[in-house]
Amino acid sequence: MSTIVSPSVLSADFANLERDVKMLNSSSAEWLHIDIMDGQFVPNISFGLPVMKAIHKHATKPLDVHLMIATPDDYIDDFKEAGAEILTVHYETCPHLHRTLQRIKAAGMKTGVALNPHTPVDLLKDIIHDIDLVLIMSVNPGFGGQKFIPQAVEKVRALKGIITEAKAETLIEVDGGVNLETGKLLVDAGADALVAGSFVFGSDNPVETIGKLKAL
Ligand code: DX5
Ligand code: ZN
Repeated sequence: MSTIVSPSVLSADFANLERDVKMLNSSSAEWLHIDIMDGQFVPNISFGLPVMKAIHKHATKPLDVHLMIATPDDYIDDFKEAGAEILTVHYETCPHLHRTLQRIKAAGMKTGVALNPHTPVDLLKDIIHDIDLVLIMSVNPGFGGQKFIPQAVEKVRALKGIITEAKAETLIEVDGGVNLETGKLLVDAGADALVAGSFVFGSDNPVETIGKLKAL
C-alpha cells in the first residue's frame, strides 16, 4: 500500500489559492490538509471557514481538517458545512474527547485526534476504536517550516503497536517537518499518511515531490 500524502495548504500562495488547489487536484495526493489556527490554542492565526469554503469549491479531494483551536466543540457542524471530510481535534483541547468524537461521527465526518509532541500515545488506548485517524505532531503546532522533532518516530511505532493489538483500523498521520528523509523513517515506523507543507510548496516541482512522498 502506498503512503497517503496530504499536502498542507498553509504553505500555498494565498493570493493564488485556486491555482494551487488545482495543482493539488492534478497530483497524486489523496487529501488536502487544512490547518485552522485561532491565535489561542496556538500562537498564530491561519484562516477560517470562508477561506476553507473557497478551497472546498475547487478541491476534488477530501479535506483533511486539522483544528488548532481552543474550543473545537463549538464548531463541529460549521466545519462539516464548510466541506470537512476528516475532522481532527487536539487531545489537549477536548476534556470530553469521547463525546466530541461521537459528535463528529454523528455529523457525518471521519474522526481525527491530534497529539502535541509532549502528549503520550498511551492516552488514546481506551478510545482507539472511536478514532479513524491519529495525527502525531512532529513539530509544535502553529507554523509551517519548522524542524522535525525526531521522537515522533518512536511515537508512531508505539501507536502502531496499540492499534495492532486492539485490532483497530485507525490510520496514523504525521504532521510537521516532513520531507523524504523524515518521511521514510515515519513510514518504516508505521505511518499511513504524511502531511507536508513547505517541503511540497517550496520544491521546484510540487507534483513530482508529492509523487516521491507517496512512493515512500
Ligand atoms: C503546523 C501545521 C502543519 C504545517 C506543516 O502547525 O499543523 O500542517 O502546515 O508544515 P511543514 O510541512 O512545513 O512543517
Ligand atoms: Zn496540520
